[in-house]
Amino acid sequence: MIAILGAGSLGRLWAATLPAGQVAFVPRPGQMPEPVRYQFHPTEGEAFCLSIPWLQSGDAPELLLVTTKAGDTLEALRSALPSIAEPIPIVLFQNGLGSQQQVTQVWPGRPVLAASTTEAANRPGAGGLVHAGTGQTWIGPLTDRARQSFKSVVGQLASSGLKVLPETDIMPRLWQKLVINAGINPFTALLNCRNGELPDQPFYRSHIDGVCQEAARIGAALSLETRTGPQLREQIEGVIKTTAGNVSSMLADARQGRPTEIRYINGWLADNGARLGIPTPVNQLLTERVESLLNRNH
Ligand code: PAF
Repeated sequence: MIAILGAGSLGRLWAATLPAGQVAFVPRPGQMPEPVRYQFHPTEGEAFCLSIPWLQSGDAPELLLVTTKAGDTLEALRSALPSIAEPIPIVLFQNGLGSQQQVTQVWPGRPVLAASTTEAANRPGAGGLVHAGTGQTWIGPLTDRARQSFKSVVGQLASSGLKVLPETDIMPRLWQKLVINAGINPFTALLNCRNGELPDQPFYRSHIDGVCQEAARIGAALSLETRTGPQLREQIEGVIKTTAGNVSSMLADARQGRPTEIRYINGWLADNGARLGIPTPVNQLLTERVESLLNRNH
């Protein structure tokens, strides 16, 4: 059985695509005992209804997928891990960087892996899950203990029918996704617009080069990046085109008044800039503005 911690869009996508009857959500304190029921809309074919149970006290999962928001991960794992045996591989699906490192610092002896995915899923309403676009998921080890198990984890997840690939060095993949998120998500949240509207927005046009220059310098200092600022912008604008109709995950969070992942994206760039002596005024500005958006909404 595969246990999934986090019953949001990504958790529900894996629960819907992994073999039926082999998946359970890990209950969080105070969660309802009824199974999680929703209608799944695959990219092709008819929608169907699913009912995913919660993990019971006698269950012994062989894999744990963690699909919580970056900021919730540590706390969610602190309450879940006492009932998950030490050798069970833990796969982290969080956006950005920083939360994965918090987990490996707290549990360095566990087999911890990270995933970087381009699968797109969203929840138009409480009872539905739309698989909006197929992508790829790379999985790679973060701790030494995960090195032995990571190819078999890839095999288990590939039984979903989604494209899952092994990646020995997962950090550059996490970094590349962070750069894309850093150049799209805060702007959509601040401007309250879909990805495709960004290139026409003056605020985006006057700050995107700053985001990219700062990211290029930090990435180079960490040996994660060889591209220049303009090359990063070109890639970001390619993604903007292919996801033009998307409401970004950060805009969705901001609209719902939920905490965003800004601390783990532009905030992570700003923190690392400070640590490395690289100025990051633009990433700092975006981080502060997105954070104040939440304070204003409450
Ligand atoms: O966070 C998101 O919404 C997505 O990663 C991306 C690529 C920005 C597309 O909307």
